[in-house]
Amino acid sequence: MVALARSPRKLPQSAEMSAFATDVLDGLSATPKRIPAKYFYDEAGSTLFEQITELPEYYPTRCEMQALRDHAAEIARLIPEGAALVEFGSGSNKKARIVLNAAPHLAAYVPVDISGEMLEREAAELRADYPQLKVLPVAADFCYPFDLPREATEAPVRIGFFPGSTIGNFEPHEAAAFLRNAARILGPKSILIIGADLIKDTEVLNAAYNDAAGVTAAFNLNLLTRINRELGGTFKRECFEHHAFYNRERQRIEMHLASLKRQKVKVMGETFDFRAGETIHTENSYKYSVESLRALARGVGWLPDGVWTDAAGYFSIQAFKLTDEPGQAQPAV
Ligand code: SAH
Ligand code: AVI
Repeated sequence: MVALARSPRKLPQSAEMSAFATDVLDGLSATPKRIPAKYFYDEAGSTLFEQITELPEYYPTRCEMQALRDHAAEIARLIPEGAALVEFGSGSNKKARIVLNAAPHLAAYVPVDISGEMLEREAAELRADYPQLKVLPVAADFCYPFDLPREATEAPVRIGFFPGSTIGNFEPHEAAAFLRNAARILGPKSILIIGADLIKDTEVLNAAYNDAAGVTAAFNLNLLTRINRELGGTFKRECFEHHAFYNRERQRIEMHLASLKRQKVKVMGETFDFRAGETIHTENSYKYSVESLRALARGVGWLPDGVWTDAAGYFSIQAFKLTDEPGQAQPAV
């Protein structure tokens, strides 16, 4: 996804360039070329992601929802009276609704997302459906520190919720930095509930990111449309192809956009050369075992506090509590 600490680029045009512009220009100048996955989620990208979650091949959403429903009562028992639920990367909120239904003693829900349009729309629907709940959306990039609304900081405790295996879109060291940042944002005695996709058969994994209807390809290629629209890019979508495959050694799905020919593309006035077959690496989706995620979390001060899976054992919901040891979960940012 994105590194928490990065070396500043010498900006060619103006010091006020957006993070998106800087990351795209940096990423297209790098070898191999890459763009952080968080930029998939403009309005069209968020809609395409929702369509992905309905695909027959994309098992993670169905399996995670099943695990959440099957174990909702046990998960709700971890949540103290009057707590605030803080969801990192809330999207359509459909998983939060399972938790909210099982834990009506929650006082507040804070959906956090980089995709502002979707955030406001979904929050309005939640307010209508849960009139007793304080719904307090925050538009923020969760890779960086951000402030919670006062009602959430005044709650007796905050419960972090990070479903969807979005943790898998980080490099492992970025995931550790995220967990430290989450500890600082959530504060003492907090609990973090993470949904993480599990390592499984390569065919199942490859099919999930190469659906027959081509929705994942459209999601990947939409990044080029976004660059064209927001950064004056000259990408021709038909000159690039979606590639997704499981890298077994690194236990991750890789998504790339492969150039179908030798070509030049301009973004914000800068020219980038592509060889035929050269790719832009657009996403990693790391798969974890229960133990490997526990080891990562333990290393930054989050202690295991429960684990649940779906019936097929494809997807895990893992709870962690913050250790009391001083200094353990301090963020490095
Ligand atoms: N939690 C939902 C959505 C997962 S999709 C589910 O499980 O179905 C990932 C979500 O995280 C998207 O809504 C996207 O907009 C958001 N997101 C991705 N990177 C982000 C970042 N760096 N900061 C905040 N939100 C981010
Ligand atoms: C949000 N994230 C966990 C999804 C994943 O599976 O890595 C995004 C996605 N990319 C392709 N399909 C879905």
